[in-house]
Amino acid sequence: MCMAVIIHDVAEMQTTASRLRSAGKKIGVVPTMGFLHEGHLSLIRIARQRADAVITTIFVNPTQFGPAEDFSRYPRDFERDSALASGAGSDYIFAPETHAMYPEGFATFIDVGRLTTALEGKSRPGHFRGVATIVAKLFHLTIPHVAVFGQKDAQQVVVVRQMVRDLHFDVDLIVGPIVREPDGLAMSSRNTYLTKDQRKEAPVLHRSLTMAAELIRKGERSCEKVIRSMSHLISSASSGVIDYISIADGATLEEMEFCADGRPTLISLAVRFGSTRLIDNTTITI
Ligand code: PAJ
Repeated sequence: MCMAVIIHDVAEMQTTASRLRSAGKKIGVVPTMGFLHEGHLSLIRIARQRADAVITTIFVNPTQFGPAEDFSRYPRDFERDSALASGAGSDYIFAPETHAMYPEGFATFIDVGRLTTALEGKSRPGHFRGVATIVAKLFHLTIPHVAVFGQKDAQQVVVVRQMVRDLHFDVDLIVGPIVREPDGLAMSSRNTYLTKDQRKEAPVLHRSLTMAAELIRKGERSCEKVIRSMSHLISSASSGVIDYISIADGATLEEMEFCADGRPTLISLAVRFGSTRLIDNTTITI
């Protein structure tokens, strides 16, 4: 296996990306916060197919974590990540230091507006301001032709798409499907926080999404009823505490009253197991 070139320095990343561009290489970037799993690696493989030079970024971005969230205990393992990212086809790993990305006096943030206050944004105020800001910075430093994101964070994709349009980033966004454990649990770096019992219960998120899609396909049109059934399943089959369950327009993220009226419909939820917050989603169009 060929090890990726590791870049920590911001200026070195910029020069390397400019050099790749000048040489006519197509650059693909996969932004991550590390502690890589098969979900991340699937995105690197997609980038590998679409680009000549694949850059995986690894940076636990402090500005997207709330004050009571898990920034300091977010899992980190750079050695393992480098090997995994290299194996999946990364040519470069960009892993800057926090103070290099946010030096003393840093003051510029990107606010994508209404899309950021729905769903995750309601429970995590400021989260998408941090995400949009870091993604814009990473795009400036890596000047990608294509950027690959996961459908696991459905709202993140919608927000980044809006930012790309609004700020004229010349980048193609590619969205990779959600990669799941054999029992249906969506892969996440945060799954490592779960206790054995919580881990056993956690696939209920996916089960509730599958059930919702089935109810809608069978003709149920009341979003409220579908949400009630999901809520009932989760509460009866697990110790999880529901943060939200939403059925919304997949593009505008506006809550829908009637399911599946021809628009792509995003069914999404967040559930807490102790202090661990898990999210999952599915999209259906009927
Ligand atoms: P992180 O949570 O590390 O995720 C990095 C990318 O992997 C995101 O695009 C995410 O949607 C995708 N991903 C995570 N789990 C996945 C799964 N099970 N299947 C498919 N894709 C999956 O998302 C972030 O980091 C950050 O917000 C970031 C964009 C890097 C900005 O800091």
